[in-house]
Amino acid sequence: MKGVILAGGTGTRLQPLTLVVNKHLLPVGRKPMILHAIEKMHEAGIDDILLVIGKQSAGIYADFLGNGEQWGVRLTYKIQDRAGGIAEALLLAESFIRPEDRLTVILGDNLFEESLEPFARSFLSMTDGARVLLKQVNDPRRYGVPVLQDGRIARIEEKPENPLSDYCVTGIYFYDSTVFEKIRSIAPSPRGELEITDVNNLYAAEGKLSYDVLNGWWIDAGTIDSLNEAGNRVLGGGKS
Ligand code: DAU
Repeated sequence: MKGVILAGGTGTRLQPLTLVVNKHLLPVGRKPMILHAIEKMHEAGIDDILLVIGKQSAGIYADFLGNGEQWGVRLTYKIQDRAGGIAEALLLAESFIRPEDRLTVILGDNLFEESLEPFARSFLSMTDGARVLLKQVNDPRRYGVPVLQDGRIARIEEKPENPLSDYCVTGIYFYDSTVFEKIRSIAPSPRGELEITDVNNLYAAEGKLSYDVLNGWWIDAGTIDSLNEAGNRVLGGGKS
């Protein structure tokens, strides 16, 4: 299995910090945020990793991470020129993935406790399709929210005003290589981005979107409060 970490985007909600350095280089505990995602991939046995970064701080990523050898992984880089959405960033991975490959995708601002290894294994036992990881949250309106029916995901609603469950779809996704043709078939959303939720909904419409639930803590470190919380968690503060 190959890995893709998406670390483009603008990090607007973390300004002025992100005016100085890219969001995924900010400290979380003792390490820059990006290193947590790399270590989660490595822990799950995924060592061939594409890093999608923006133009901002590109030189710092190269200086810091190099070819990845120091962390036991092989890193390839792609630059996303403008923040055109998560699915647009993922499309940059197309030339990195062969038709027979499967991929694990982590959004670079997602920090979490559990190992991905058992989830990657259950995905690999499927013949094809996609698998997402869900987490029960207090404020589902901030996220993609799954509509669960008969033990499967019927569809996902992105940042709904009236969420139909208290689960969110985390930024941890497993895909077969048909993900790229799906991305190419979607149109930009009203906010002008290619949405990963639209891609996941194409799998759901085919009946090919399965899920697991994270029980350990999980944080989307996109705001100053959640960034601080992530730092405390990785330094050893309790479970959520
Ligand atoms: O964290 C989970 C949530 O992530 C999901 O529940 C949502 O369904 C999903 O849309 C996403 O929502 P966010 O609003 O949190 O996404 P955000 O724009 O903050 O982007 C998250 C990461 O994706 C960011 O750290 C880097 C990457 N990204 C994002 C954009 C917009 C890119 O690499 N390129 C981009 O153009």
